[in-house]
Amino acid sequence: TRVLSVTSECVPLIKTGGLADVAGALPGALAAEGVEMRTLLPGYPKVMAEVGRRRKVAEWDDLFGGFARVYRGKLGDQVLYALDAPHLFDRDGGPYLDSHGRDYPDNAERFAALSVAAAMLCAEGVEGWFPHIMHCHDWQAGYAPLYLRELGASDRVASLMTIHNIAFQGLSPASMISRLGLPRSEFNERGYEYWNNISALKAGLVYADKLSTVSPTYASELMTEEYGMGLDGVLRERQEDLVGILNGIDEALWMPPYKSPSGKAKHRAALRKEFGLPEWPGPVCVLVSRLTEQKGIDILLQALPALLDRGGQLVLLGSGNRDLERAFQDYAEAHSGVAATIGYDEALARRMIAGGDAILVPSRFEPCGLTQLYGLRHGTLPVVGLTGGLADTVINASPAGLAAGAATGLQFHPLTAQALAQALMKLVNLYQDRDTWTKMMKNAMAAPVGWDQSAATYAALYAEMVRPG
Ligand code: ADP
Ligand code: GLC
Repeated sequence: TRVLSVTSECVPLIKTGGLADVAGALPGALAAEGVEMRTLLPGYPKVMAEVGRRRKVAEWDDLFGGFARVYRGKLGDQVLYALDAPHLFDRDGGPYLDSHGRDYPDNAERFAALSVAAAMLCAEGVEGWFPHIMHCHDWQAGYAPLYLRELGASDRVASLMTIHNIAFQGLSPASMISRLGLPRSEFNERGYEYWNNISALKAGLVYADKLSTVSPTYASELMTEEYGMGLDGVLRERQEDLVGILNGIDEALWMPPYKSPSGKAKHRAALRKEFGLPEWPGPVCVLVSRLTEQKGIDILLQALPALLDRGGQLVLLGSGNRDLERAFQDYAEAHSGVAATIGYDEALARRMIAGGDAILVPSRFEPCGLTQLYGLRHGTLPVVGLTGGLADTVINASPAGLAAGAATGLQFHPLTAQALAQALMKLVNLYQDRDTWTKMMKNAMAAPVGWDQSAATYAALYAEMVRPG
């Protein structure tokens, strides 16, 4: 099966969150299943610096106000296409925000351009390569299935829309309809209209042939009012077409620097030293995250005394919401057991995950979550809220989980500071019980967190979607 993956970020070229890890890992993982996945990515400066402008495979004179070209590059062993449209993508700042942290005012056009380009490559083929499936990730690729239909190619190419996070919906005012080249006839409740605005994500959910999200639990949560963020009705209507397929991690990229639990001690000591944390008897907890409402950082701040009072420590790395950044810095200054680094630092994230005893993921909602998977792989036991992919990937140290010798971490519920505080107390107690702790570390390190199973599931889904003929 031939699949064009359409994404706004992709490791190792450009990343703000887990989507980049997943988009970067999928082509390699799927190759093993006989799927040929090529990736289309906006030509941000970092991407063009890597891909170069030697191998041009498509060009358009006017894509939302400027010329655009597609260049061929490499993503590991697979093909990467970069959409070079300097008027849209050649900017300082991140993929979505300018250097002052504000949304680019033309994000709707920027990602509509990515979506149009994807649809055209699928409709016309590229270098004689004709995809069977267009795989769209998040709102940034949301209009692509509709554009594909408008190009008259949706009877040849099937589309899959994957929801990595329903909180981001790609809303624009209805005045953008003609600017984005959308068919006005579809501007209604059953189409891409959303409360008098237009929504790229909703378009994807309506016009794609199949829908997926990144864990089975999140797939069912999405159909509820509590988690659906206004799109639960649309998803309930499409429930036959919606599946949850768990993310994996790229195990080659996330290989622990030790093979057994005893190897961690050295890395824990190094981590304490790096952050000037004293040798306390309790566990070193780590947290690597975007600092946003979603991630439950405020819940953690309230629950932390339960950990610190019992000799536990916390090392935090994150960036995002300015108030949360400030709150954590202040907290770290006032408490000798807490260290906080504000920023984005891949190498530090790795040292933390290798050296920590536990990794905290107190999210209010979490479509899949990847840091708990990195934690498992490293025997860094996850402490997670019972929601989304966190519910699907961690085996709670409940009496049953422990008795079966299967536990890999702690899950708390409801998603409150009190429940988290209780989980942290339990964590400290478990940590004192060396045999149980070591057993849990072994379980965690042996847990299947790679792509094997999910890659096979995607491959089967694509195969089922291929149009006859
Ligand atoms: P989300 O996509 O919602 O941010 P995930 O857990 O799926 O959540 O993925 C987050 C990814 O970003 C992980 O690879 C994590 O290690 C990484 N990450 C998040 N914040 C930072 C940071 N401050 N420094 C380094 N890596 C980070
Ligand atoms: C989103 C979600 C996260 C998920 C990632 C990759 O950003 O917030 O839970 O792991 O996408 O699918």
